[in-house]
Amino acid sequence: NRPRITVIGSINMDLVTEADRRPGAGETILGKQFSTIPGGKGANQAVSAARLGGEVTMIGCVGEDAFGKELLNHLEAEGIIIDNVEPVTHSQTGIAAITLAEGDNSIIVVPGANDALTEEKILRYEKIIADSDAVLLQLEIPMPTVIRAAAMAHKHGVKVILNPAPFQKLPEELINDADVITPNEHEYEELMKNYSADPDTLKEKLVITKGGDGTVFYDKGKEIHVPGYQVDVTDTTGAGDSFNGALAVQMAKGASLEESIRYANAVGALSVTKFGAQSGMPKADDVHNFVTGSDPRICG
Ligand code: RIB
Ligand code: NA
Repeated sequence: NRPRITVIGSINMDLVTEADRRPGAGETILGKQFSTIPGGKGANQAVSAARLGGEVTMIGCVGEDAFGKELLNHLEAEGIIIDNVEPVTHSQTGIAAITLAEGDNSIIVVPGANDALTEEKILRYEKIIADSDAVLLQLEIPMPTVIRAAAMAHKHGVKVILNPAPFQKLPEELINDADVITPNEHEYEELMKNYSADPDTLKEKLVITKGGDGTVFYDKGKEIHVPGYQVDVTDTTGAGDSFNGALAVQMAKGASLEESIRYANAVGALSVTKFGAQSGMPKADDVHNFVTGSDPRICG
């Protein structure tokens, strides 16, 4: 039985420019390369989960434009159920303007149609949510939508994994309805700064990703470190998304949190070895080969 994952989130076209450095204000420089490739935290996490064997339903919105059509075809080709992705008029498909320079990325996201995924629309999807083994959420759609989806899933006893990215202050009800919250180190700091209630309750839900340094979670107050993998990094865009998709599949299958993290660490590591958010996302066989040591990309 394939684990059923419902991803409620953003679908973007990534407009990626590679250059030697970032231009300053008022400056023009020549870049090296430009690519138009599928992205969006929601869609990326859906692709990750689908490649790892999940039966994935995507809930989201694209514009009625060329990017929207292309992204829908792409999701379908990845085996993702797109019956509930709504093309919306009067709105552009979400885009991310990404600059790759000096070994790191900087990103501006323009949500466009992603903002049309309103709280009211979520009410139509109660059955899909209730029939899922896990629901995966990020913060590139309106916050009230995320809150409503988490509450609905929680009500039906469905596991809720919340990736708090890009960072926004999390209301307490959302924290309560989430089973697992997956910030990176920066989002973790923001989360703790912006949280007034008992931090120990929050900590028990946290899975903090630290790139090559692995992942940290808490078990009854005890900090547990799950080591990462050293790989040659080509592009870290979407690494967190590949981690979250993998975590959802493993947790939906009933694996322990620690086992799920160990697996997701390997998936995240493989994803950064290739250019683009999704192109390096592995299939289950690739993960198996990687962790059993037969993959030359392990270099430490
Ligand atoms: O997490 C990476 C994603 O963030 C990119 O694909 C881009 O679309 C932005 O949403
Ligand atoms: Na990548």
